[in-house]
Amino acid sequence: PAVTPFTVPLPRPRVLALYRRTRSADYYAVTMRRARVEILPGLRTEVLTYNGTFPGPTIRARSGRAAVVKQINALSAPTSVHLHGGNNPQDQDGGMMDLIQPGRSKTYVYANRQVGATLWTHDHAHHMESEHVYRGLSGLYLLGDEAEDALGLPSGPYEVPLILRDAHFDAAGQMVYTMDDALNRTTILVNGAPWPYMKVKARKYRFRMVNSCNLRIFVMALSDGSPIIHVGSDGGLLPAPAPSPVIVLSPGERADFVVDFSRYAPGTQVTLANMLGPGPTELVGQIMRFDVEEKVTDTSRVPDVLTTLPPLPTPTVERSFELRMDEPGTGHLAYINEKTFDHDRIDTEIAWGSTEVWTVKNTSTTVPHNFHTHLVQFRILERDGMPVYPAEAGLKDTVLLFPGQTAKLQLTFDTHRGVFPYHCHMIDHSAMGMMAQMRIS
Ligand code: C2O
Ligand code: CU
Repeated sequence: PAVTPFTVPLPRPRVLALYRRTRSADYYAVTMRRARVEILPGLRTEVLTYNGTFPGPTIRARSGRAAVVKQINALSAPTSVHLHGGNNPQDQDGGMMDLIQPGRSKTYVYANRQVGATLWTHDHAHHMESEHVYRGLSGLYLLGDEAEDALGLPSGPYEVPLILRDAHFDAAGQMVYTMDDALNRTTILVNGAPWPYMKVKARKYRFRMVNSCNLRIFVMALSDGSPIIHVGSDGGLLPAPAPSPVIVLSPGERADFVVDFSRYAPGTQVTLANMLGPGPTELVGQIMRFDVEEKVTDTSRVPDVLTTLPPLPTPTVERSFELRMDEPGTGHLAYINEKTFDHDRIDTEIAWGSTEVWTVKNTSTTVPHNFHTHLVQFRILERDGMPVYPAEAGLKDTVLLFPGQTAKLQLTFDTHRGVFPYHCHMIDHSAMGMMAQMRIS
């Protein structure tokens, strides 16, 4: 079905209302259920949802205040809800085997003992996660804190979630899921709408962006080449604003950035373009359009100092990880250090309290991968021996590795003990086995 780009207005995901509030916690209830929603104009698409919306509602949580989320599974398959980027104990982490059976519920308690960040909830049920996420079990979780409020970044109507993804639709408007099919997912959706447009005032906006694709990496830029200002990444704010003409985002990664539309004359249309395939440029080469309206007063600021990152302790352990996948036509498995995922196996034993350096290499010559750790926000020390991009200089839980690339990560395991996975977040690849487990004890 053909959609003319920039004809659908950008929807804003609904903010989930709490049903109870105590001194220390906010309580929410979510039902995972099927729904038929209008994604392509005039057609109804069957999707899997959190509370009936595609993508799911945004949870607005506060650092230091618990969020208690009851997840009711009204679907016909088991689910598991993972808070991506959250620092939570094993039994609240939404692990692959910690399933909510159909008709049952699980109440997750998120202590939110971490700094403000753009987090993301998505399904993680073993062997089903990639299809479940693809069909819609995905939603934003924005964690705020006082230090961030005090900065005066654009907020309220000027702080806008952008949940990016691609999809493959058949002629009837139904989503087609085929494992590891990057080529046919060529409809770009933002907040569940195809190539939307957004009316913006000629002032600063803050965007909270997540790449929720199963496989697609975006390399984005404004059509006039103007810089955007990165202010945060996966796990929180950057130490300082990082202006850049591009936003590079692989599945699971987040970009928190400011665009100053006051540089444009009212009436200007600027598109957010995507420079990376696969797929025809007419389709995947653009994401959305900003239609600049009148100038309005703007008291928001982007201060020169945004946060102070935690110090880097001296590491005591070094490890290396190699990511590899069967070449097309030779199999359909994916590996970390030549092993495919087995939930009965612990791959890495870690001493609680330690700081480690992990060298992660994508040994493929053709396929990009990335590397995501549950539980910890790490720091990227270097990429192929070179300093990291300024937009990656903060707390990260997912790192992109183009073919042949190596990244050195530093991780400190001083919070929860237990068993947690790490995996490629091109989630079809993790479903094919590019996933392993660490035990912190
Ligand atoms: Cu966002 Cu284990 O994943
Ligand atoms: Cu991968």
